[in-house]
Amino acid sequence: MKSYDAIIIGGGIIGVSLALELRHSGMTVLIVERGEPGREASHAGAGMLAALDPETPAFLKQVCIASAKLYPEFVAEMEAESGLKIDFRRDGTIYLAERPIASLGKLLTATELKILEPELESNSAYLLEEDSVEPRDLMAAALEAAKHRGVDIVRGSPVAELLIDGTRVAGVVTARKQYSAPVVVNCAGAWAADVPGFTIPSRPVKGQLFSVVFPHEPGRQLLRHVVRAESVYIVPRSNGRILIGATVEEAGFDKRVQPDTIQRMHQAAANIVPQLGEARIHEVWAGLRPGTPDDLPIMGATSLEGYFVSTGHYRNGILLAPISALLMSQLIRGDNPHVDLSEFSPLRFAAKEIRSA
Ligand code: GLY
Repeated sequence: MKSYDAIIIGGGIIGVSLALELRHSGMTVLIVERGEPGREASHAGAGMLAALDPETPAFLKQVCIASAKLYPEFVAEMEAESGLKIDFRRDGTIYLAERPIASLGKLLTATELKILEPELESNSAYLLEEDSVEPRDLMAAALEAAKHRGVDIVRGSPVAELLIDGTRVAGVVTARKQYSAPVVVNCAGAWAADVPGFTIPSRPVKGQLFSVVFPHEPGRQLLRHVVRAESVYIVPRSNGRILIGATVEEAGFDKRVQPDTIQRMHQAAANIVPQLGEARIHEVWAGLRPGTPDDLPIMGATSLEGYFVSTGHYRNGILLAPISALLMSQLIRGDNPHVDLSEFSPLRFAAKEIRSA
């Protein structure tokens, strides 16, 4: 049986960035991935780094802001270690609000908005200092960096069982093999609940989205900013592709895309930026966000010694990857995480059951 210092279940951006962080501190690391690394939520995400979203609860927002601050260095490191380019845009978000939101500061005047985004039609908008990233670039670079740093990856290998030795975890069992490690971290996203051994109440929350292009003007920069409204968001890429999303659906593991839903989102986007109505649909897809009962991440130690969880990042997985990797690696190595993780503890659900009994 092959042995490692740590085994990470799940090869999405949360798992791979944690693997890189642990490897950086000298640990040997294996990632066990049920399918193909980086091909689920980390491939489907729009890549808005929505750290200032007014919908986010206050204490999670502080963590989101801290992670957003790490992003420029995170991207630079991934690029340097992989030799791959990542589309990371620092142009900000135009946030369209149906009523004033005091915490967002001053509404843009019509003239200011026209200068920032000439094609956008709205009379109630804020400018937020947020970035965006192409998650597919980021994921490809992270996997390449993991390869360079000597992180082992096994794919097509769902974890069937945790190996337990007395009161602590000792490794994982897949259909093909067993691997031993004193540390196992469940980073399996929407599939985290499938790993037996400790109940993790994560569930898939479907998001349908699509991209459009202007085939006769490839590379056209119709928009500079991310545009976020209640009904739809619009995320421009530097190559001219524009992403439009997303639904939030309780549909289990169904990843089918419905043409009428895409049509409705296309219309909602065209109501805000009329020129988008003329753009051609380039790709449609759906992803499964890892949701949790209280919409907060699940990060921390479990009651099984050596077994940790980092999942449930819901709509902010790409944004929270750098800080989650850092905090989880501090916790796993026995240091005090520099942000208090108690609000995110995997034990909070069990505690609630006891309180309400
Ligand atoms: N992160 C964007 C979404 O969940 O749709």
